[in-house]
Amino acid sequence: MASLYDDRIDACRHELEATDAALAVVFPGPNLTYLTGFQESPSERHFLCFVPREGDPTVVAPSLYESQLAALPVDGLTVRTWSDDDDPVAVVADILQSYGIETGRGRTILLDDRLWETFSQDVRSLCPGADFGLASTALEPLRLRKDAVERQALAEASAIADEVSLEIRKRGTDLVGTTEAELAAEIERHLADAGGVEPAFETIVASGPNAARPHHHSGDREIQHGDPIVLDFGAFVDAELPAGAGRYPGDQTRTIVVGDPPAGYTAVHDTVCEAQQAAIGVIEPGVSAAAVDRAARDVIETAGYGEAFRHRTGHGVGLEVHEPPYLVADNDRELEPGMVFSVEPGIYLDDRFGVRIEDLVVVTEDGSQRLNDSPRGWETET
Ligand code: CO
Repeated sequence: MASLYDDRIDACRHELEATDAALAVVFPGPNLTYLTGFQESPSERHFLCFVPREGDPTVVAPSLYESQLAALPVDGLTVRTWSDDDDPVAVVADILQSYGIETGRGRTILLDDRLWETFSQDVRSLCPGADFGLASTALEPLRLRKDAVERQALAEASAIADEVSLEIRKRGTDLVGTTEAELAAEIERHLADAGGVEPAFETIVASGPNAARPHHHSGDREIQHGDPIVLDFGAFVDAELPAGAGRYPGDQTRTIVVGDPPAGYTAVHDTVCEAQQAAIGVIEPGVSAAAVDRAARDVIETAGYGEAFRHRTGHGVGLEVHEPPYLVADNDRELEPGMVFSVEPGIYLDDRFGVRIEDLVVVTEDGSQRLNDSPRGWETET
């Protein structure tokens, strides 16, 4: 029976055909994991996967990975390993020759967007006549639409974030005196306890005036009475795959206030909530990514805080925490069922406070569905 990965490689071949490219060269990272289920970090040793428009894929890899590669559930995958006393570039040359594209003349080769330049130069010098493009041309259209397994993993990661968000909110004024870094470490412990494999990105705890910095690094500031606190975090979970691997993140932001909020705070919080609701309200297949950004921005501009909304409205999530589609003013891409992205408007008032509220949202056949459901208000229980 064809595995999930066989279907994805097939779909990649169709995209190569549609874009008139001869070959995709894929590197360890999200594209390789997506196509083969192999999850490994890149290193200085040559590790490349070649997916030709016609014919079976080939992996060239250090012999260290031989048994892992042999176990991959990919039909027809040829594995060519090399040891430290071999010349890996000769193996790459041989593979290109076997596909009949050793000079590249008149052909287009798509290189992984994350391919290290050192390996890119090897392929370029072996195929001097080729045109080069990005592998995302073929792979992005596939990775944009999440299948049921991916959506399930993203929903689980979101449930973990919700659970932790509730835990932290419960602590209310107990948080006074805790430093941002201590609270970030506590959040990461809770994420692990709830089933997260590892933090999906650096946990953000931004308190008081620090909350006005969208990407604040949690530091040694102690939380004080009346502080708004931006809490932005998530953990990866492993997808339930019959074989192979795939790790999907949660990404959620809540802004809470311990004690009584500062003057002017609640109106700003309400505006951000309303902007998020407005953005989510317009999401359906066929609507552009830009229109979602516009919907959030309209609410914030009308309230007089247009300048204080300093970033795009959201980003796709999948094997990467930030990936297409980006909800940004100039992105005409039409939304499609199965896309999953964050919707996270914010208002940042220098030296005072900031508010951001973020949920992951999946595009459905006729609208959208939030993957996060924990409270979005600023109130804590104590
Ligand atoms: Co985000």
